[in-house]
Amino acid sequence: MEMNQRPQTIPRVLIFPMPAQGHVSPMLKLAELLAMSGLHVTFLNSDHIHNRLIKYTDMETRFSKYPEFLFRTIWDGLEEDHPRTGESVWDIIFSMNEKTKPVLREMLVSGQLGSGATPYVTYMITDGLFGGFTLDVAEELGIPCVHFRTTSSCCFWSYFFFPLLAQTLINYLHRNEDMDRLVTSVPGMESFLRFRDLPSMCRVSDTTNKSFQMISQVTNQTRRARALILNTFDDLEGSFVNRLIEFCPNIYTIGPLHAHLNHRQAQNSKTSTYPSSNNLYDIDRSCLTWLDSQPPNSVIYVSFGSIVVMTKSELIELWYGLVNSKQRFLWVMRPDMLMAEDGDRSVPAELEDATRERGFIVSYAPQEQVLAHSAVGGFLTHSGWNSTLESIVAGVPMICWPYFADQQINSRFVSEVWKLGLDMKDVSDRKVVEMMVNDLMVERREEFVKSTAEMARLAKMCVNEGGSSYCNLEKLVEDMRCGTK
Ligand code: UDX
Repeated sequence: MEMNQRPQTIPRVLIFPMPAQGHVSPMLKLAELLAMSGLHVTFLNSDHIHNRLIKYTDMETRFSKYPEFLFRTIWDGLEEDHPRTGESVWDIIFSMNEKTKPVLREMLVSGQLGSGATPYVTYMITDGLFGGFTLDVAEELGIPCVHFRTTSSCCFWSYFFFPLLAQTLINYLHRNEDMDRLVTSVPGMESFLRFRDLPSMCRVSDTTNKSFQMISQVTNQTRRARALILNTFDDLEGSFVNRLIEFCPNIYTIGPLHAHLNHRQAQNSKTSTYPSSNNLYDIDRSCLTWLDSQPPNSVIYVSFGSIVVMTKSELIELWYGLVNSKQRFLWVMRPDMLMAEDGDRSVPAELEDATRERGFIVSYAPQEQVLAHSAVGGFLTHSGWNSTLESIVAGVPMICWPYFADQQINSRFVSEVWKLGLDMKDVSDRKVVEMMVNDLMVERREEFVKSTAEMARLAKMCVNEGGSSYCNLEKLVEDMRCGTK
């Protein structure tokens, strides 16, 4: 069934992210970039996330300058108080893959996702984690549908080898073998990828595991999409983007999206602007005032994104490591960061005393601004892809403590391939933390400052006029206007 009853000269693009911070944020940045280019955009979000965006950001004012920009919401299928951090994020994906297809179809057919001169959606950009269901609807209604993946290209490439990887890892774990041994089944990574670096979803006891099956299936579905959009840039990941062409021939690399948006906003207004906040938490800006009073490059910023949860003993080990390093630190401790069974938040008095002396704790930080602050000299991160890109653009070296999904591979690339920092991997030991913080902030500082400054330069060039990401975005807009791709 073809849906468009009336011809539309302007495209209306539907953007539909997986409802989680690390997905909504880059896809909303893309939505704004497309609106700036004159396209009519509808941003479809879960009610749960939309309400949080409205609560914690100036979303409505920010987008009011694009009169044809629409926010629409859809139920993610979970009760409002269902946990949405840690391993519970899988529930959102399972639930939406199971329940959302008929609702999305109805919204498209009835014209609920358009308005005025553009009542119908003519192009869809949907989260690759939705796999086949958005593609099924798009194909039935004759709407071109592109997948957006929020992960790194190198990690996405490894997902195509999942069945092989998981089986090898299962056999390997059963024999209790050395996790530092190299894995040879991902082309292009044979010389540095260890069992320890494989995405968390491979660490299953058998391949009937639900999250393993889900990732394998949705990855393959992307081959059906009209094209693939990646939040990365060619100087960083060009070689893996080129490999991905084997599975997805049309790829637009348009990142780092936050830098891209900041650049185009500055170009439009001719003045530097604040980064647009897409946060789902109440941001505490007092940390910027605290940073103002710290010496240049003296602070290590500690943040593990929006999904990571940790045990009390991991928290204490990280904390002792930071305190014992004697370096200054700014730490984001989200209210929902500690595992439920570890609800007791009491910590040894010596940690609190040392924190008062040279640390600062907030429940959520304006991360882009923190990383750009001259007092920040390092980032202890979970290697979420957005955080990694934000650190790269700011030229801040990283210590990686990956939690799940793409983060294990990202952290290996940060340390071994791009040489932008150190990979602590699955270790949570105060002595290791102390040593790595000192290596990053003092002992090997010069080496990392050089490599991160160069990568930051390349990242900025990519989003400047004539750069690869800039040109790819222009092409994407053009292709949407022509409806050819
Ligand atoms: C997840 C995955 O980890 C990531 O790898 C995947 O590609 C997308 O989904 P998340 O764990 O939240 O996302 O990490 P990350 O990708 O780093 O995104 C977190 C975002 O929240 C970043 O843009 C960061 O700037 C922002 N943030 C986090 C803040 O603004 N303040 C904070 O205090 C913490």
